Amino acid sequence: MADLDDIRDGKEFGLDKPAESKGFHLKGCDHLEWGMKNRLSRIFRPDTGKTVMLAFDHGFIMGPTSGVERVDLNIVPLVEYADCLMGARGIIRSCIPPTSNKPICLRSDAGTSILTELNHNVIIDVEDALRINASAMAIMLAIGDPATEAKTIANLYKLADLGSRHGIPVMGVTAVGKDMTRDARYFGLASRICAENGANIVKTYYCEGFSKVTACCPVPIVIAGGKKLPEDEALELAYKAINDGASGVDMGRNVFQSEDPIAMIQAVGGVVHDGLTPAEGFEKFNDLKK
Ligand code: 5RP
Repeated sequence: MADLDDIRDGKEFGLDKPAESKGFHLKGCDHLEWGMKNRLSRIFRPDTGKTVMLAFDHGFIMGPTSGVERVDLNIVPLVEYADCLMGARGIIRSCIPPTSNKPICLRSDAGTSILTELNHNVIIDVEDALRINASAMAIMLAIGDPATEAKTIANLYKLADLGSRHGIPVMGVTAVGKDMTRDARYFGLASRICAENGANIVKTYYCEGFSKVTACCPVPIVIAGGKKLPEDEALELAYKAINDGASGVDMGRNVFQSEDPIAMIQAVGGVVHDGLTPAEGFEKFNDLKK
């Protein structure tokens, strides 16, 4: 109980200062609830509106592939340079120190491996995402795949319901089948379907004409890095994506398979947050390289 003897009348009402009503720093998110915005603000830096997410969820379908054989050795040293960590719950719990305090984008679907047919996934229990204190939940969509498109879209809209009930943003991840053309028409369609079905963030791939993909997607897009490229090319990919309207990257192999992952993630951060050109980013990489 407060001490009732000392209740002072308020004096500082700032009558000459109307309360500010600021827009939120991410497109399409102005009307979200406070908890959603707070979690999104942990992922996307409010000062730049961008993010460098570090993806290391590869093992959940591929096992100990190159660069994630030992997450404790390969990924943990990168944690301090990432804005957000994207991984599956088993690896997060066993290898990522809870003291790191980095927002987690939790891989929230599972069900198959590269040894069988991909994307026959089910969603995890949202209570587990809450237990792990997830700042976002990521789920795969297989747009254009006759066998799994409907199932994966249903997974997304169910997860979006659960996310909105608990204030956890959902990231739709566009999986690309082997036979699909990787162009702006396809990525524009897949990204828009993610957003229309409730994704608060979309993860997709960069392509020619990417500004059309970002323009018609009403929520922030982050790009996957894709297969390992030489560092200068990966930095150029990040630069072009940001220039064409992406709100960040969610890179895996181009960081953790780099000859110097710690230098690379910082160089990517320079391009994403500080507006470095690809050449300046590459110079930063070389300066930091051990
Ligand atoms: C696909 C994913 C992966 O995390 C993604 O592909 C990112 O990794 P990379 O930059 O290595 O492509 O979301 O399920």
